[in-house]
Amino acid sequence: MHTYLYTDATLATLHKADTYGLIENGVLAISGDTIVYAGPRHGLPRDLTIQGEQSLNGRLITPGLIDCHTHLIYGGSRANEFEMRLNGVSYEEISRSGAGITSTVAATRVASDSDLLKTALKRLDRLLADGVTTVEVKSGYGLDHDTEIRILRTARQLSKERPVNIITTFLGAHAVPIGLDADEYIDSICIPTLKAAAAENLVDMVDGFCENIAFTREQIERVFKTAQKLGLPVKIHAEQLSLMGGAELACQYAALSADHLEHINDAGMDAMKAAGTVAVLLPGAYFFLKETKCPPIDGFRLRKIPIALATDSNPGSSPMTSLLLAMNMGATLFNLTPLECLQGATLHAAKALGLKGIGQLVSGARADFAIWDVSHPAELTYRIGDAPLFRRIFGGVEC
Ligand code: NIG
Ligand code: FE
Repeated sequence: MHTYLYTDATLATLHKADTYGLIENGVLAISGDTIVYAGPRHGLPRDLTIQGEQSLNGRLITPGLIDCHTHLIYGGSRANEFEMRLNGVSYEEISRSGAGITSTVAATRVASDSDLLKTALKRLDRLLADGVTTVEVKSGYGLDHDTEIRILRTARQLSKERPVNIITTFLGAHAVPIGLDADEYIDSICIPTLKAAAAENLVDMVDGFCENIAFTREQIERVFKTAQKLGLPVKIHAEQLSLMGGAELACQYAALSADHLEHINDAGMDAMKAAGTVAVLLPGAYFFLKETKCPPIDGFRLRKIPIALATDSNPGSSPMTSLLLAMNMGATLFNLTPLECLQGATLHAAKALGLKGIGQLVSGARADFAIWDVSHPAELTYRIGDAPLFRRIFGGVEC
């Protein structure tokens, strides 16, 4: 097959732990949708049939960024609740008063399919402008059979509308709908909807919100048992506002990731290490809710638990559509290094989604990458509100 070369590039290959794997004066060679070489010019295999090449004049190439935790599809806005919080009402009080997630549920149920798609595409386009090539999208603002299914179908539609890889997550266990008992909701709506969505091939993984304003461990476990029977991997929103032991529970089901984790303890981290579960940190939610308890970064580092970063893009706790900003916040709010931030938005984010063959610039990986108008990867984490993207390449195609 013919090969195309990007030459005179600085490559951040991330091909081994604890280093950018920087290669100056590097070449990235692609054939179709696959990387066939990433390294110094002199090491380029001689047997390639070169079809064309482009000099990047020292520009940086990284793997395409991966946003591994978003709630991109919803109706309405929660600016009014933001205002309430700034007038002294807490996020939990708002949630208990019947607003919060359930107010977005009401707005989502009345939104048409085309409105859901249109508003999600706007948010998706903003993510793509940050060099993102894979996005995880959760349901969870429907909380009834029809709306959850509509959200997941819309999520699948996103990858037909734009050159991007979309991973769908069923988050029926996100909040208790108004007027329903939590157990009744889990057994008679959430679990049957999960089965129906899986039968329509709408679900890549299953998530649950384990929190005192959402579901108990026992309730989440019933959803996980169904996921297990369906052969679907699980992940969890855990220890965001309090310590509920959700991360430990998820690890018993070999969770791909546990997300938020501000309140996780040593036992939870030990369980994550043993299960190979990724810590997905969401500094946008921490920032927007004005939290003061940081996730225990040193505990993750000590145990070598991979840390990923994501936007958590959602209307209530993180109305953010920039993964580069999440990287900046990972550094400024959580003290992650720029290397940890880049790994968190590429290699470790891929692991949080159970995806192999993306997140690194190595031979055999999918040709999803970003070319930046900067020469060093720390520039990506350093900037606030800037996206120095030169080109986004998805499956070998310049977008
Ligand atoms: O990830 N934690 C639960 N879900 C979202 C917030 C949802 C909302 O407030 O609408 C989150 O932060
Ligand atoms: Fe979330």
